[in-house]
Amino acid sequence: MIKLENVEKYYGGHKVLNGINLIIQKGEFISVMGSSGSGKSTLLNLIGGMDRPEKGAVIVNGENISVFTDEKLTLYRRKKIGFIFQFFNLLPNITVFENISMPLLLNGSEDREKVFQQIKRINLDGKEDKYPYQLSGGEQQRVAIARALIHEPEIILADEPTGSLDSETGRKIMYLVQELTEEMNKTVILVTHESYIAEYADRIVRIKDGVVFE
Ligand SMILES: Nc1ncnc2c1ncn2[C@@H]1O[C@H](COP(=O)(O)OP(=O)(O)OP(=O)(O)O)[C@@H](O)[C@H]1O
Ligand SMILES: [Mg+2]
Repeated sequence: MIKLENVEKYYGGHKVLNGINLIIQKGEFISVMGSSGSGKSTLLNLIGGMDRPEKGAVIVNGENISVFTDEKLTLYRRKKIGFIFQFFNLLPNITVFENISMPLLLNGSEDREKVFQQIKRINLDGKEDKYPYQLSGGEQQRVAIARALIHEPEIILADEPTGSLDSETGRKIMYLVQELTEEMNKTVILVTHESYIAEYADRIVRIKDGVVFE
């Protein structure tokens, strides 16, 4: 379970998050909406342990990750979190297979068979030796989804994962995210501008003026 308690985040003198209170149950799929600059990515970064709040607590499975040392936070990110981004963020100079393997390598647990199974699961068998530039946007995002799940993290954070795809490909990507994460009982936090994408979730929340509305 994830619990945000009175979370405040500032950049310079500008208060972006102004007392966020939010509880996300294990296995829940939640969408976060809000206008550009409202703090959606900031919120994901706090939950993903890529940043810390100035005030308040981000509690994951009973532990306040905001007070973790940098080393502990890095381990938290590597083990517990899978990220999916708008522009895929695949490493350009390595293959599909190697991109998907990366979280396993970082966790010191290479498993080639598992990677091949995952490639089948996203329907990209035969493309394991391709480089990201040789794939379509939708295919690259499927690789990114496989990479986000391969190390079996508890939490998937997706920041506008369909934002650079056409709507039909976007729907297919959402269907895949929904199917894979439901099957594995992952907690999913999805940021999107588009309500038809947000509706894939169990619950939708909105950020406005630094606070969250249900
Ligand atoms: N690293 C940073 N340094 C300074 N200001 C930042 C930083 N990251 C975000 N901000 C500011 O914080 C505010 C919230 O940014 P954030 O990226 O969370 O918005 P967002 O809701 O994700 O927007 P978008 O929909 O455009 O992606 C913005 O005003 C932004 O300029
Ligand atoms: Mg953003």
